[in-house]
Amino acid sequence: MTIVGVVGAGVMGTGVAQNLAQSGHRVVLVDLDREILDRATAQIHRNARLSGLLGGPVVDADAVMAAITTTTEIADLADAEFVIENIVENWEAKRAVYAELEEHCAPGTVFIANTSAIPITKIASVTGRPSLVVGVHFMNPVPMKPACELIPGFHTSAETVERTRALLASMGKKGIDVKDACGFVSNRVLMLTVNEAAYLVHEGVADAATVDEVFRSCFGHPMGPLETADLIGVDTILYSVEVLYEQYSDSKYRPCPLLRQMTDAGLHGRKSGRGFHHYDDFGRVLPQ
Ligand code: NAI
Repeated sequence: MTIVGVVGAGVMGTGVAQNLAQSGHRVVLVDLDREILDRATAQIHRNARLSGLLGGPVVDADAVMAAITTTTEIADLADAEFVIENIVENWEAKRAVYAELEEHCAPGTVFIANTSAIPITKIASVTGRPSLVVGVHFMNPVPMKPACELIPGFHTSAETVERTRALLASMGKKGIDVKDACGFVSNRVLMLTVNEAAYLVHEGVADAATVDEVFRSCFGHPMGPLETADLIGVDTILYSVEVLYEQYSDSKYRPCPLLRQMTDAGLHGRKSGRGFHHYDDFGRVLPQ
């Protein structure tokens, strides 16, 4: 059993916390306020109860909850062997959180960055422990996914990588080794696809249902790119495309204005009940 700090209790943090807890680890889950943490624990309890029905393992939801404590204080991570950071995809917010982690965590704590696109070397540079900072790009929904990208930064030690790989294995995941480039492998491709799909809707070439139907029916994809955007979070897609655009200065990553407008309007996808599609309380697509 390992004590793992999980910072950020949104879409990814709740999945990471649940996955760790049902794998026998103790979790200290951190977010900005009590209301967010209460919503997160209710979500974890529900997802754990439904795990078997959703195609995951049958888990003891009460035991999962007993393994998770929640707090608004990073200082409560003093005993954590690993900290998995899952806060919003924004450089200034991440920078501030890593400064706090550096101040409060033990000198040997491994920092695992769960980011869609921000380079791990850049994150490590604002800590005093670059050899102990590593990237893991988890996939959503975390407890259901058997693999993730494992990304060493420039200074990450081989020992940190192997300890992280072992933690992932204990969570039932294979860490696929990927080099540290903005967007890694998955999001260099996925974000371009989703951004271009958003442009199709923005330009009136097709509506969201049609775009997704082409990918599902013609290519046999289980989900279309705009359903995928709703699953990830339209806001998170926008922030990730912005990071890629800024990092590569390449117009192919120019964020679609529709993503910005939807983010401003609160149409964040499944987590807000509406994005490119409408959703019920169980995350099922409602007819338009
Ligand atoms: P989200 O918006 O659902 O959740 C972010 C959480 O972080 C919120 O609950 C927010 O209150 C909290 N937060 C913000 N600042 C904080 C701070 N200073 N201290 C503690 N908590 C703080 O975002 P999501 O989707 O969970 O994404 C988190 C990270 O994971 C992002 O970097 C994203 O790019 C990455 N990611 C997202 C995936 C997805 O499918 N949504 C997949 C893989 C990675």
